[in-house]
Amino acid sequence: MTIAAYNADVFHMLGDPSAMGPDVAHGFYEDGLLIVEDGMVLRAGPRAELEASLPSGIEITIFADAMIIPGFVDSHIHYPQVDVIASPGDQLMDWLNDYTFPAEAAFEDKPHGRECARFFLEELLRNGTTSALVFGSMHATSVDALFEEALARNMRIIGGKVLMDRNAPAHLCDTPEIGYRESKSLIQKWHHKGRLQYAITPRFAFTCSDQQLRMAGNLLNEFEDVILHTHLSENEDELKLVKELFPQARDYLGVYESCGLLTNRSVFAHGIHLSENELVRLSHARAGLAFCPTSNLFLGSGLFEFHRVKKHGIKVGLGTDIGGGTSFSLFQTMNEAYKVCQLQGNYLDALTSFYLATLGGAELLGLAGKVGNFESGKEADFIVLDLKASPLLARRLKQCRSLEERLFVLSMLGDDRVVRRTYLAGEPAYSRW
Ligand code: GUN
Ligand code: ZN
Repeated sequence: MTIAAYNADVFHMLGDPSAMGPDVAHGFYEDGLLIVEDGMVLRAGPRAELEASLPSGIEITIFADAMIIPGFVDSHIHYPQVDVIASPGDQLMDWLNDYTFPAEAAFEDKPHGRECARFFLEELLRNGTTSALVFGSMHATSVDALFEEALARNMRIIGGKVLMDRNAPAHLCDTPEIGYRESKSLIQKWHHKGRLQYAITPRFAFTCSDQQLRMAGNLLNEFEDVILHTHLSENEDELKLVKELFPQARDYLGVYESCGLLTNRSVFAHGIHLSENELVRLSHARAGLAFCPTSNLFLGSGLFEFHRVKKHGIKVGLGTDIGGGTSFSLFQTMNEAYKVCQLQGNYLDALTSFYLATLGGAELLGLAGKVGNFESGKEADFIVLDLKASPLLARRLKQCRSLEERLFVLSMLGDDRVVRRTYLAGEPAYSRW
């Protein structure tokens, strides 16, 4: 039995502020203590209360000018798109053809996949992200490469091979049968190995035939705790094309719904242009949406209607959507989520932002029993924030009079410089200094 204790301000979310009220939805301990036993959270609380409970001989690791928070959860990201980030000019459909498909074709080469997976996972850790729902490429070996690297780091990664069998270059297309066989064998090989989980990953309705989507639905039905991960209603041109391809569907969501893909294990990225009826059906199915503001702004896709979606009680997490997104940082993602809400005349409070980036994301991905906050028994994935990471941050934080104000400033000014250390299951996995 190994016990370790960490001292700094300690903050975590206990629930959705809009459901529980902001005060009970979070825990904050100035001069707090996080106690970890064998990689799991034993307790979080005020140091003055908990210190006496430590067995003798345990040395407390003290972080000055720091705040300990749970590791971030990225609810939607593409690891083969690391080299696509910051590719200018196009909206979704052209961007896919001009930049994304050529980049993903390179993942036929497994060593390239391993090299990118290494870079990708290190970049997540540098940004304080400890769990993520990840698109691979259409090559099964791309998922092997990602999972081999994630397993070596003991990271909680959910990933899957892209399924697409039309409207993409022939060398990037599979068939419903091949997609089924390869996905199934990846599930059998990787699902629940270490902290890894599989997500069945049809790219989106435009690049999948009806048969392929049905096959994905069958597979989802066969494996009761595997997630479904795809894109939904992101871009106006995409919507028109999907309507042409599936004239019999009642709407975009209906394409997935009729193939058995609308479930409480379904995570849809974007969901920007949804009708009231689609929101009602998403809510009824207890499916969720990944809000990806940096991508939605960069690709000119539109403004995610967070407040409208929340009125329907739909689960939401934050996604960076690299490489459509422009930053690996969940701080920067919170920053742009706030602005997306501002442009619609709505206020996104800082507690809700941190909820989305931690526990809310974990709930969306079905991981809330394991990560997302510091409840006893959860895996000790946490980050130590450097509250003096830049002169401006230090100066601005000094003026703050409430926790909420401090969190807001962090969400606006924070980036990878703020992440001093990242711990995975109690073990240091990244240290900035
Ligand atoms: N829709 C289908 N594929 C993609 C992708 O790779 N990125 C984004 N943002 N949207 C998509
Ligand atoms: Zn995406």
